[in-house]
Amino acid sequence: MITLSDIDFFYEADNGNVDVLKDISLTLKEGAFLSVIGPSGCGKTSLLRLIAGLEKPSTGTLEVGTQNSAFVFQQPALLPWASVEANIGKPLKIASVKNIKQKVEAVLDLVKLSEFGKKYPHQLSGGMQQRVSIARALVMEPELLLMDEPFGALDEMTREAMNLELHELWLKTKKTICFVTHSISEAVFLSTDILVLSSRPGKVLTYFKNQLPKERDSEIYASSEFIQQVSQIRQLLK
Ligand SMILES: Nc1ncnc2c1ncn2[C@@H]1O[C@H](COP(=O)(O)OP(=O)(O)O)[C@@H](O)[C@H]1O
Ligand SMILES: [Mg+2]
Repeated sequence: MITLSDIDFFYEADNGNVDVLKDISLTLKEGAFLSVIGPSGCGKTSLLRLIAGLEKPSTGTLEVGTQNSAFVFQQPALLPWASVEANIGKPLKIASVKNIKQKVEAVLDLVKLSEFGKKYPHQLSGGMQQRVSIARALVMEPELLLMDEPFGALDEMTREAMNLELHELWLKTKKTICFVTHSISEAVFLSTDILVLSSRPGKVLTYFKNQLPKERDSEIYASSEFIQQVSQIRQLLK
């Protein structure tokens, strides 16, 4: 689905180039869940932008097997004057898609917000607002979901609940997901593939396939495999 080979990436600036990513290689199968972890400013968002085709690598090659991708950001960025349904239906309306009502209902069901379609964003908790923004991304039926610290603004408890929901959603929809996070445990819980980057210019500190079973629940947090992976990544980022 996605192959990056020896990618370097820099932004051109007046006082010289800003090196952002260095020697990035990875291979993701369709249906994979990649987490990207690394210090602030190491190029995580830039990497998602490259995968989305919004930026071009400076050197190296990048192959992405679909152009149908959707972004979810840290801030849900919902229209405050529009209902949940209207917010989710908006991209369909812009694209003049048919059967908007059914499609909106289907994704509301996926993010467990069927009862909340008529509510307005300010009537929802932060976690629910982020579920609306995930629904808005899913409604366009993307093959690839790019998520940039989507739960970074949520409290720990809500975040764990959202991790479980996202995991179930990923199992159900079989989407390929590239997910940026600062949370090591979130990355280990959610992913099939984990990429740990150094500080800028972001280089691969480690890239590995997660050995945890594909289907997970909250009991896995207490398992020795989970704890070991978390502590290995923490050591690398020190
Ligand atoms: N459009 C741009 N022009 C120049 N530099 C940029 C631009 N966007 C981001 N940067 C710089 O590139 C580096 C990586 O940014 P980013 O990919 O957003 O990192 P992260 O998401 O890991 O925090 C940062 O140092 C940032 O200041
Ligand atoms: Mg970022």
